[in-house]
Amino acid sequence: MTFLFNSDAKRGAIFAEAFARELPDIAFSMDPKSVKPDAVHFLITWTVPEDLARYRNLEILFSIGAGIDQFHIDAVPASVKVVRMVEDGIVRMMQEYVTLAVLALHRDLPAYLDQQRRRTWQTIASRQASERRIGVLGLGMLGSAVLERLQPFGFPLSGWSRSPREIDGIRCLSGRDGLDILLATTDILVCLLPLTDETRGFLNAELFAGLPAGAALVHVGRGPQLDHQALIDALDAGHLSGAVVDVTDPEPLPADDAFWNHPKILLTPHIASVTQPETAAVAVIGNIKRHQAGLDPIGLVDRNRGY
Ligand code: GLV
Repeated sequence: MTFLFNSDAKRGAIFAEAFARELPDIAFSMDPKSVKPDAVHFLITWTVPEDLARYRNLEILFSIGAGIDQFHIDAVPASVKVVRMVEDGIVRMMQEYVTLAVLALHRDLPAYLDQQRRRTWQTIASRQASERRIGVLGLGMLGSAVLERLQPFGFPLSGWSRSPREIDGIRCLSGRDGLDILLATTDILVCLLPLTDETRGFLNAELFAGLPAGAALVHVGRGPQLDHQALIDALDAGHLSGAVVDVTDPEPLPADDAFWNHPKILLTPHIASVTQPETAAVAVIGNIKRHQAGLDPIGLVDRNRGY
């Protein structure tokens, strides 16, 4: 029985060591050419290889990242379990990034950076955290972890998810009506939704219009969820005050894109959160053990939901 690792060799070496220690009965390979296809029961990868069908005994297809939207899941046989990456490193990095972004917007960093470029020494009236309402779209592993990390600052915190959720200390909303309420009462909106047919183009002109004037956006979901032009328009009209954007469509962002120079946008190249091999290996090994014990792996994708 073989675990096939289809990603960079540096991370693979860390996985190999952990597998040798924890799952000595499973052969570990990083070479799809030399592996016996029928022996491959587990595969970890970022994109689904075109020749996936050769792995006739595949039981679990692991994504090396938090998302599985890049998988085109319909091409994966129904018998194969598809599993998202749920690991401490990804969670911690997303908590760091969203905290950084929320605080940057809360403390007017885009405006101060703009002033610095123009050599302008000028105070901007600041709001207190208790007056800055944060709304997080998506209450999965990442959304709830981010809300937990934001709690000590004293922001009023809300979260929205498709189906109802409950989290201590957080106002949780769901469904279409809940979305309207969340938007109307959010000053900094954080997008941590998975990319599905329903969330493609979700961050659009209509959604921005539902936010109070002066609201800001942190986008750490997936590029195709954001209508770029709608964001520029809302910023230029003064309806939105700023945005921190880590994911775009396409990626990389073309050199002539309006986001690069926009004074109200802080842009980073999809680095908010990256799988950390040490903790990811622990998570994947744990999931194989769960699977072997007849339990569902953590991060198992529900094919009907698409995440
Ligand atoms: C990064 O965006 C990931 O999916 O891990």
